[in-house]
Amino acid sequence: MRFNLDTIDIHTPGRYASQGFPWREWKQLRDEAPVFWYERDDIEPFWAVTRHADVLTVSDNARTFINGGPRLRLALKGEPELLRGGLDSFGTSRSWDPAEPPDITFMDDPRHRQTRKLSSWAFTQGCMRSVADHFDALAQEFTTRFMENLTRTGHCDFVHELAAKLPLAATGEILGLAPDDWKQLLVWSNAMLGEVAPEHMQPGESVPEAAERNMNELRAYLEDLIHTHRAPGGGPSPFINRLVTGRVNGELLNDQQLNGYLFLLIGAGNDTTRNATSGGLVALLDHPEQLARLSADPTLIPRAVEEILRWTSPVISFLRTCTEDFTLAGQPIRAGDTVCVFYPSANRDERVFREPECFDITRDDNPHLSFGFGAHFCLGTNLAKAELRSMLKALLPVLPKLALTGEYRRIANTHVSGYSTLGVRRIT
Ligand code: HEM
Repeated sequence: MRFNLDTIDIHTPGRYASQGFPWREWKQLRDEAPVFWYERDDIEPFWAVTRHADVLTVSDNARTFINGGPRLRLALKGEPELLRGGLDSFGTSRSWDPAEPPDITFMDDPRHRQTRKLSSWAFTQGCMRSVADHFDALAQEFTTRFMENLTRTGHCDFVHELAAKLPLAATGEILGLAPDDWKQLLVWSNAMLGEVAPEHMQPGESVPEAAERNMNELRAYLEDLIHTHRAPGGGPSPFINRLVTGRVNGELLNDQQLNGYLFLLIGAGNDTTRNATSGGLVALLDHPEQLARLSADPTLIPRAVEEILRWTSPVISFLRTCTEDFTLAGQPIRAGDTVCVFYPSANRDERVFREPECFDITRDDNPHLSFGFGAHFCLGTNLAKAELRSMLKALLPVLPKLALTGEYRRIANTHVSGYSTLGVRRIT
């Protein structure tokens, strides 16, 4: 079946929730119009970039394609862009500067590089090697508890009961947050994606109102943390102590900048890794021959993690603003135009991946772009991979006892994708 490219939908959150990724539409775009001017009534137009090579070019040319322009994430007309909304009520009540970039993803070099450096020391491969055994133990503990619970109840929600646990614990530990607060972080980071479970809503509140209240609560929590760590002698978190004393261009970060920094680290680290875990579970259960291979040879876990990342592509898209006339794949782009890169599409590009529609945990050449590329390459790459390796190690022995119930809900979002609930049952 061929689509009319002028009517395809690759931009509405509802589409991603009800039908998942627009794989066939992206394939047709890659084949026929890899840099496509996408114009619809309910969104400002943008160039849709769907091929691997072109996503790389955009990501690797941070001077031409900047993050600091007017748009960074897809948002329908009249809806605030994800993460910029924080300024609306909390930021206004604190008289924050609306011109200040909300976090490093909105910055460009040199400020971006300097600000990113204030935390990148905590996410190096060396740091992750030193916590690998600890992550293994945590993943094992969470999985054992999950299986005990599942044995008792027969079925449960995999996202809430297991996939969410390690990302929260890992973020909580690296940021030095109190374990009692980790559960609440989950509610808050879900709210960042506009997801609020009924039990976390107040009477009479709409979902957007509940999401905003939750984000404001997170901002207030971070504000307290920042003040505690600014006090003489610092606070209990070595990470936050270092962040509040770090300087960019000789200046300490102010409350607004620190709040935005921590807000990003909490948001970026939780839902993405959780979605890779739940999407990975579905992929393995849907491909029993791959699961059998992995069970027979657990040394394949690192490769399986890469394939799960390619397959699930938890981050869908990012926008850039073009600063000068540029020709991308033969298509002239004008200064001021918005460009949108679609990572899942790049990860299925048949020009780069052998049999891209095949989930293959032994794939050895796997240059997926799930973590982006270039100046803004995901800061948490090593952490996410370490978590996913630990989760897979812990899950592998119990996977033959799990089946999908067929009940699930997908996140209604065009920036981060995945399951908000995923029913599993125990088989004997
Ligand atoms: C499977 C899990 C994850 C995926 C798929 C993912 C994906 C991405 C992507 C696509 C980007 C944008 C890259 C670009 O613009 O080129 C990004 C940026 C970022 N990620 Fe991740 N991420 C994951 C986990 C994490 C974790 C665990 C953290 C923890 C701190 C994290 C922190 C960040 C930050 C801070 C940025 C902004 C970097 C910058 O602008 O310089 N991510 N991530």
